[in-house]
Amino acid sequence: MKTLTVDLGTRSYPIHIGAGLIKQTDIIKPYILGKTTASVSNTTVAPLYLKQAHQLITEKNNTDIILPDGEQYKNLQVLEQIYTEMLEAHCDRKTTLLALGGGVIGDMSGFAAASYQRGINFIQIPTTLLSMVDSSVGGKTGINHPLGKNMIGAFHQPQCVIIDTETLNTLDDRQLSAGIAEVIKYGYINDIEFIHWLDENMKKLLKRDPEALAYAIYRSCEHKAKIVAADEKEAGQRALLNLGHTFGHAIETGMGYGQWLHGEAISAGMVMAAELSKLHGWISDNDVKSVKALLKKANLPVDPPSEISATQFKQLMSIDKKVQDGVLHLVLMKSLGESIISSDFDKQALQRVLG
Ligand code: NAD
Ligand code: GLY
Repeated sequence: MKTLTVDLGTRSYPIHIGAGLIKQTDIIKPYILGKTTASVSNTTVAPLYLKQAHQLITEKNNTDIILPDGEQYKNLQVLEQIYTEMLEAHCDRKTTLLALGGGVIGDMSGFAAASYQRGINFIQIPTTLLSMVDSSVGGKTGINHPLGKNMIGAFHQPQCVIIDTETLNTLDDRQLSAGIAEVIKYGYINDIEFIHWLDENMKKLLKRDPEALAYAIYRSCEHKAKIVAADEKEAGQRALLNLGHTFGHAIETGMGYGQWLHGEAISAGMVMAAELSKLHGWISDNDVKSVKALLKKANLPVDPPSEISATQFKQLMSIDKKVQDGVLHLVLMKSLGESIISSDFDKQALQRVLG
């Protein structure tokens, strides 16, 4: 097992990474403070891993809350189901909530934990690559609104993150690739060496080589932990983690939640950010080609869906958390492997990228 720390003073917490951790009771015990737990999962993950996760909490008084599976259920109605089942089970302020699943479960359960009786403890047990390398770390929790992705939420840090790399063996190939999009993102933010490593090891990752996966997860979490520790509430540099996301969120919302996977939308969004960066003269045509080639190698889409017009894109992008005082901020590539946050990008160039 390897452990990283998200350094947030008295709210610091560990990220444990290893094979088979979901069965190791001693790992989770110190982080369950009260006598009761609520385990939130979904109809796909629960049959696969809930029993194993129960070994972590055997002597506790636990309530299972099983949600429908899918991004389209990351909404207020399903959130209410969590509150209702917790109230019916008499969960109180000492209850610890366990989020077992991908980013949808993690984000929704985290928001339930942030708001239930004004905030309770929770533990992230991510089971998709995407949730292991990104969403389970950093305390961003929330749900979607029909008008915009992740528009309702709160910052609420978990007590710990337990990453059992063996759970990736049951993940389907499309979901694995979607997770690789967020891994690649860290490289383009500020780690060109990682991009080279990913280029060399992509086949191994797609074949689920345990060592390659463990390395990619560790290095991604290292990046995420560092940025979150420096800027927990996204006053500045944390926004870099949104490379490709303003375009990507517009794709997810515009196409209907669940049509494009989050990681797929981020992949096409990163290419759009690269194209816009090229139009500013910051990166070359060959750089853009290399971004596309790496994403294609990971079986990810590199073109936005033709169904979304430039006008729709602009409208969707105007409802984004990176619009502040009416000004849109975008994460762009100043050079390959060095991203920046910019609000004074060329609006005509953006128009060209949107088509
Ligand atoms: P997801 O949670 O929908 O999971 C993808 C699919 O895989 C689901 O059908 C799920 O049931 C299934 N699944 C999960 N684990 C499995 C396993 N081990 N074996 C087999 N099937 C499994 O999607 P995701 O990609 O994990 O997360 C995407 C969500 O995360 C989006 O809502 C996105 O907005 C959010 N997100 C949040 C943050 C953050 O910082 N909070 C960061 C990135 C993404
Ligand atoms: N996934 C973006 C963030 O955590 O800030």
